Amino acid sequence: MATALTPDAATLALAGMDDAVFASWVDLLEARTGVVVAPQRKPFLVSAVRARMREVGYASFEQYFQHIRAPGAGAVEWATLVDRLTVHETRFFRHQASFDLIARRWLPEHLAAGGGNLHAWSVGCASGEEAWSLAMVLHHGLAQAGGKAHFGVTASDVSAAAVAAARTAVYRSERIEEIPPLYRGTYVEMRGENAFSPVTGLRKRVAFARVNLLEAAAAPLQRLNLVFCQNVLIYFSRERRRELLDGLAGLLEPDGLLLIGPGEVTAWNHPALARVAWQGTLAYQRRR
Ligand SMILES: C[S@@+](CC[C@H](N)C(=O)[O-])C[C@H]1O[C@@H](n2cnc3c(N)ncnc32)[C@H](O)[C@@H]1O
Repeated sequence: MATALTPDAATLALAGMDDAVFASWVDLLEARTGVVVAPQRKPFLVSAVRARMREVGYASFEQYFQHIRAPGAGAVEWATLVDRLTVHETRFFRHQASFDLIARRWLPEHLAAGGGNLHAWSVGCASGEEAWSLAMVLHHGLAQAGGKAHFGVTASDVSAAAVAAARTAVYRSERIEEIPPLYRGTYVEMRGENAFSPVTGLRKRVAFARVNLLEAAAAPLQRLNLVFCQNVLIYFSRERRRELLDGLAGLLEPDGLLLIGPGEVTAWNHPALARVAWQGTLAYQRRR
């Protein structure tokens, strides 16, 4: 825990962050996570940092900045702060067209071509909904095809708190509506009246890890058949998006599919990948 500097609540509430200090915070966040905070989001950054400073007892942005950059306790504090500075909004089956592409075209073609076991990666999984949706689609599709192939999903995020929530996988009952009826009946079970979770059979198929996309090359993830990277790149600079996509392309198996959110990158292509024509999606497939 940080050294208490006995902040006066009124001083903290009033203290502003000057532009030079703001620039240091923006640089640190971009260097460590890739996330770019635009000048117009300064109020968001200031209020998130300030709220955390209050919790740990810092009164000066500069001193807290020094603390965050220090090894040891600073690294632990950084992990908490990063969760506050990243956006975790998500839904089950958030981008339906991408799941349709997998279920209706990519998976049947993969199996028809003799493809076997599958490994999928949800790159910025937030509280897990994307990874569980993928698991439902793959479990159902493989069962329909005779159930000979197995699959696994790796769900990761830079935020340790998000990964913990994804692993716990307890969701408010009204959100069950986000899951199409085809999957709802088979793949979720109620937890009392107000919550639900994925069924055990699905839980066994999903593994969780804290992975910073900037360090993905060092993660033990390769020979992937599906990479789902949606609503993550939008927080990165345009140039960084291209570099990261080049890296993700290199992790795909021949025939593997990379699914990005529509509009999240423009004018990007990769010599080993071909754009997939499926309405409403931005998807690329590794050539055989
Ligand atoms: C808006 S959520 C998107 C969740 C889900 N992919 C979806 O489309 O609904 C963005 C997630 O990206 C994560 N993120 C941000 N920077 C990251 C990085 N460098 N590496 C991995 N995840 C990151 C955030 O922590 C957050 O949970």
